[in-house]
Amino acid sequence: MTKKRVLSGVQPTGNLHLGNYLGAIRNWVPLQDSHECVFMLADLHAITVPQNPADLLKNTRETAAAYIACGIDPKKSIIFPQSAVRAHAELAWILGCYTPLGWLKRMTQYKEKAGLSASSPERILKDLKDQKKIFTELTRQVHEGLDNIRLQADSKTITADITQGVLEINEEAAAFLESEIKISEKSKLGLFSYPVLMAADILGYHATHVPVGEDQKQHLELARDIAGAFNRACGEEFFPLPDPLIMPTAARIMSLKDGTKKMSKSDPSDLSRITLTDDADAIANKLRKAQTDTITGITYDPETRPAIANLLTIFAALTDSTPQKIADQYATAQNSQFKGDLAEAAVTHLSPITARMRTLLDDTETLDTILASGAHAARDLAQPILRETMKRVGFWQSA
Ligand code: ADP
Ligand code: TRP
Repeated sequence: MTKKRVLSGVQPTGNLHLGNYLGAIRNWVPLQDSHECVFMLADLHAITVPQNPADLLKNTRETAAAYIACGIDPKKSIIFPQSAVRAHAELAWILGCYTPLGWLKRMTQYKEKAGLSASSPERILKDLKDQKKIFTELTRQVHEGLDNIRLQADSKTITADITQGVLEINEEAAAFLESEIKISEKSKLGLFSYPVLMAADILGYHATHVPVGEDQKQHLELARDIAGAFNRACGEEFFPLPDPLIMPTAARIMSLKDGTKKMSKSDPSDLSRITLTDDADAIANKLRKAQTDTITGITYDPETRPAIANLLTIFAALTDSTPQKIADQYATAQNSQFKGDLAEAAVTHLSPITARMRTLLDDTETLDTILASGAHAARDLAQPILRETMKRVGFWQSA
């Protein structure tokens, strides 16, 4: 039986951090023995927000080095920059023609990244339609009031209340439309169609399993829907529906400055994250300054003590333990001792990775050879699938 095929990737946008490592890359490593693995550097996705060209190139090599340093073995897995395989962009165009705009408009990441308001157009539309009901009710009540002395007195307040309600709905609708128009004028097509490209990444390899974090689950669902739409159109189960691989070991890591916010590459504060290029001093310094709370002693309580819970999650993930076990171990410890030991564990775990990354980055020639042969292998997988797709669409192809 052929091995199941895994595809995943991270955007090479720099600042690769502990969350990317513990929540994504590290969990890919064991899959290499049970699955055929394809890991891309999602540079086509990266340019959905403005990138400095020199930084993009540097970050692409850096992310590749991080994959390898974290345990992705180029002999077992295919590692390549997404843009080096044209099939991604070509298939994305085709799949875009099977994707209703409504599906894309529901993507929460797009709304967040574009800065769209949280209210949905459907809700505003419903409110506007309800105005008719409100006016009918108003008319009924006022008519009733004309025959009834008591209600005659009330009818003024009723009218004022209802008019106020209608005005509020109109104001909200106008503000909504204004902001939608402003945003859609300047927001980029690529940011909107990003999930179609992601579907092409996955479907273009007939990948069966996609390890993703919580934040990418909605995009994977969409990839399944797009596969379904194409399959229905061509009357054949051509694209296998990819399954999310939710890794039991994947940890969700929060910002060191705010235990309720996810650790992120784009957080303006460098102190909010530990990156894979931080040295021992930087790690110790960031952990020393990490947010805690005023409660004495260490307990694992994500609801009421998110910052401490996050440090415990990190400690546990780095030492193959559980947050509760670590909390029991440090129940009566001072924050400073707990943080010091955590820094030591982090340095022990991360320094070999950082060192390996540096070695790889010092020899870009070797790194580039790995990427070139990865791109070659990826093309060999994707090209025949693209040709088959094109045949189903009805495109002419040279023999
Ligand atoms: P960021 O949110 O920092 O920009 P990306 O969106 O590029 O990172 O995420 C790359 C991968 O790393 C995704 O699979 C995502 O689920 C994972 N990831 C990102 N941040 C975290 C985090 N704080 N904890 C766990 N996993 C994360
Ligand atoms: N969109 C993903 C992210 O931002 C990266 C990505 C692109 C990806 N294509 C993919 C992940 C295909 C899994 C499968 O993190």
